[in-house]
Amino acid sequence: MKPTNNKGFASDNWSGVSPEVMRALAAVNVAHHPAYGENDPLMEEVQELFREHFGPDATTYFVYNGTAANVLSVQQLLKSWQAVVTPHSAHLNEDEAGAPEKFTGGKLLTVHCPDGKIRPEQVEPFLNSIGFQHHVQPRLISISQVTELGTIYSADEIKALADFAHANNMYLHMDGARIANAAVAACLSFRQMVTDTGVDVLSFGGTKNGLMFGEAVVFLKPGLADGFEYSRKQGMQLASKMRFIAAQFRAYLQEDLWKRNASNANAMARLLGSKLGTIPGIRLSRPVEANGVFAIIPPEIIPLLRQQYFFHVWNENISEVRLMCSFDTTIEDVEGFVALANSLIP
Ligand SMILES: Cc1ncc(COP(=O)(O)O)c(C=O)c1O
Repeated sequence: MKPTNNKGFASDNWSGVSPEVMRALAAVNVAHHPAYGENDPLMEEVQELFREHFGPDATTYFVYNGTAANVLSVQQLLKSWQAVVTPHSAHLNEDEAGAPEKFTGGKLLTVHCPDGKIRPEQVEPFLNSIGFQHHVQPRLISISQVTELGTIYSADEIKALADFAHANNMYLHMDGARIANAAVAACLSFRQMVTDTGVDVLSFGGTKNGLMFGEAVVFLKPGLADGFEYSRKQGMQLASKMRFIAAQFRAYLQEDLWKRNASNANAMARLLGSKLGTIPGIRLSRPVEANGVFAIIPPEIIPLLRQQYFFHVWNENISEVRLMCSFDTTIEDVEGFVALANSLIP
């Protein structure tokens, strides 16, 4: 697939880097700087920013990518004879090439969740295994916010899962690759959505919302991060030039860049959804809750549309496609795509 002049709707990580982040990278590209984040005042400053956003107990570690954030988060809280209960559609299950199983030794127990969201009653049956020495022991619930199906959990839904997990001696992990889009959509702060609901550990994404690379693992409770610096190193995710991740997150969190970028992506998805929904022959297959639009599009026009605006087919059987909007998607991008779709409809 060659890049086209149009931005397309393949994914929010097809986009480039926010200019603010580029400037932040350039600003730390001077002189020399302590490696690995050790004794680095910039790291201290960014830790403090995370505490401002997530509360005083937040402890943050940077890693290179979202898969590592998920795998290392889970590994921290799981023994090899324990299990993670998660929707079948979870990135952890479908898109990490078995890394969670390889690195944690534990098992993923997946649940079919038509809207991408798991509920406590779907975890409950797994509790029957507790104390039975022949079965893996459920220890973690993992949810994605935004889900892989474009939906978001309300704060009440997250709290219900966290309460359920804690009542059953389990933890709640959140894959927040798109947490900014979720927070903006729900009009909540990170603290309200994550800390106050009882999440134990968060994979905090930035790459899909304007960063060049780098994600964060945020532990929300004292004691949970013990020894994590060693497992991050053992997991090959300790960045030597750590300042280039830290500086991006400073720019991202300091002046609400996360909010501006996610607001644009979400607004463009709403616009795209509302316009596509009016084209005869095209139907939205899921509600537009954040920055993803899922639609059923006549199969014969998909190749022609994709020549100019690349996107992924989500479910070939029903001709469902996924269109992701980014921080840099414009009204012109949306209108151009919609006009093309209109012109191609037989
Ligand atoms: C829900 C979700 N979690 C995590 C990730 C992290 O992926 P990566 O390892 O490519 O940064 C992604 C990226 O596609 C994602 O969509």
